[in-house]
Amino acid sequence: MSLLRHAVERLRRPQGVPWRSAGLRTESLTADEAVRSTGWVFDNKTGDVSLESFEASGDDEVRRYLKIFGFPKGSTAGLSMVEIGSGIGRMTAGFTKRFRTVYAADVDAAFLERCRETVFHHGEPTALRTLHVADGRSLDLPTGTVDFAFSYITLQHCSGDDAKSLVEEALRVTKPSGLIALNFRTWTIADAALVPLGGLVRLLWRAPKVAKYMARVRALTRLGWQANRLSPDDIIASIGIDLIGTRLTDVTVIHSPRRRVKVSAEGVRKLGVRRVHPSHWWLLARLA
Ligand SMILES: C[S@@+](CC[C@H](N)C(=O)[O-])C[C@H]1O[C@@H](n2cnc3c(N)ncnc32)[C@H](O)[C@@H]1O
Repeated sequence: MSLLRHAVERLRRPQGVPWRSAGLRTESLTADEAVRSTGWVFDNKTGDVSLESFEASGDDEVRRYLKIFGFPKGSTAGLSMVEIGSGIGRMTAGFTKRFRTVYAADVDAAFLERCRETVFHHGEPTALRTLHVADGRSLDLPTGTVDFAFSYITLQHCSGDDAKSLVEEALRVTKPSGLIALNFRTWTIADAALVPLGGLVRLLWRAPKVAKYMARVRALTRLGWQANRLSPDDIIASIGIDLIGTRLTDVTVIHSPRRRVKVSAEGVRKLGVRRVHPSHWWLLARLA
């Protein structure tokens, strides 16, 4: 990418800066080295982590979430899926062992390279396809390609508009009768401070030199990448409330039982699941 395009990207999508900086760093590292030095970028893990322990944490989450989403054990072997925001493959490796085809999609091409490495060592490489989300908002896949569209700890890191566009894309690329399971982050009390601070950090990120330094500082990066908070009502309104029960069936908002969530649309089930982080929620739905 040319310097000019980099500069324009930085202005248009400052929330992408920490990902790209981490991605650049991983270009000269093996996936194991990347986990040891930037594991926190993907899973808030620091200290004694290796690619193996990192993948094991992802595999465990894959197993638990597939169960929560209603896939009986072994039922996904003939299915295809897309993972939006695969990172370096923490969960992707687990998906490749369970699905026939996995499209790992990420805004950073270097992460996708490390993702291939992770899957080579810990997953099923023949099941993997990688997909660069170059514009941060669209998936280069034909309509109706996959049986399952999944995204975890990613849609909170895009601009709200890009996140909504990726939700539309997830619906577009999923086959009729296929399932979507998309994870979002909603408001917490701490956000009253975190969100304005995050905005400030992203403002500073527009300066390349400052950005290079800040992208290595864990606390600043974690502040800066909290790019949006989207509630179930925001997402349902953006998809179109009239689609509930028509284009989308079995619509469920999965949330933490420690947290009350407001869902105004009729026909949406709410389900409290202990495993879900109190600031997170999931949109689970089947395409008609
Ligand atoms: C916190 S990591 C989560 C990775 C993975 N889902 C996991 O649980 O290990 C967030 C990922 O989202 C990716 N990402 C951020 N914005 C994106 C966008 N607009 N489109 C696609 N991927 C994006 C980042 O590059 C990063 O790899």
